[in-house]
Amino acid sequence: RPRIFSGMQPTSGSLHLGNYLGALTQWVRLQEDHDAIYCVVDLHALTVSPDPADLRARTRRTAAQYLAAGVDPARSILFVQSHVPEHAELAWILSCQTGFGEAGRMTQFKDKSARHGSEGTTVGLFTYPVLMAADILLYDTNLVPVGEDQRQHLELSRNLAQRLNARFGAGTAVVPEPYIVKETAKIYDLQDPTAKMSKSAASPNGIIELLDDPTVVAKRIRSAVTDAGREVRFDVDAKPGVSNLLTIFAALTGRPLPSIEADYEGKGYGDLKKDLAEVVVDLLVPFQERFAGHLESPEALDDLLAEGAERARALARPVLARAYDRFGLLPAR
Ligand code: TYM
Repeated sequence: RPRIFSGMQPTSGSLHLGNYLGALTQWVRLQEDHDAIYCVVDLHALTVSPDPADLRARTRRTAAQYLAAGVDPARSILFVQSHVPEHAELAWILSCQTGFGEAGRMTQFKDKSARHGSEGTTVGLFTYPVLMAADILLYDTNLVPVGEDQRQHLELSRNLAQRLNARFGAGTAVVPEPYIVKETAKIYDLQDPTAKMSKSAASPNGIIELLDDPTVVAKRIRSAVTDAGREVRFDVDAKPGVSNLLTIFAALTGRPLPSIEADYEGKGYGDLKKDLAEVVVDLLVPFQERFAGHLESPEALDDLLAEGAERARALARPVLARAYDRFGLLPAR
């Protein structure tokens, strides 16, 4: 069976609807017929210098949200990145294969470093995509389900895998393919529907967090920015706000866009928003219950993560050993 790997950063108290539709729902679907490995990438989160107590809590909360969304530890491996030291080890040797200019061309790095200035930008932020490549290559991954914003990072992972095979012999690395579902690859901010929904948004009103109070969520949807027209029609250029709401509606109900558009013929944006708010709340209420259930017993959650790390490590060790060997590192005995 094809191997899947993906991860999310535990950088906030809650995942948002972009994470959910762009990645998490795909993860749950793909685990049915793939060998899936899902990781909470806590080492990546260190690039934003989180408060240590927050980071620990958010790591557990992120894992509990994977479970609440339907990641099934009986089928998939679920673990925390720092529990498998091979990630950091492979990242080092990959960093020695990555061009300085190549890493500098990553648009997320350029955006973030422009915001923080050169003294505020860490080396970790620069090498972040190399650690991500290590995550992926460490499991001989075939497919990586992510949102559109990770496409360039994945391209770097592919280039690195191809480079290793060229320099150190075929079979040194498996070249991963992105798995990006076009319809939901980029969910937009409700207040600024030309920007992606993101934890670092200017205003919280544009974001739907999975753990937000449902009444707040409903209010945010009702006050989403639309346009001066009245026709409920999917048209990203002319109607970015309405199109984003329609995308979310279609994804959460599994209904095709034209049938949703047809339902709102002769009705207004207000009707669409009201119905969408209901759909989202119907998703969030049981999600939050399941989440709370998993957090109630942190012991059980930690046990599950420990078991996941053990299974992940059993897969990672031989792959790292193969890379060390190909690179010419003297075997330890
Ligand atoms: P992160 O934590 O920023 O986001 C987690 C996942 O959510 C997707 N996503 C979105 N999808 C649609 N619309 C949006 N508005 C939206 N915002 C976020 C992201 O594309 C991602 O799939 N570098 C990664 C984490 C990572 C990783 C990996 C992923 C580390 N190692 C290995 C895959 C494989 C990141 O920061 O994602």
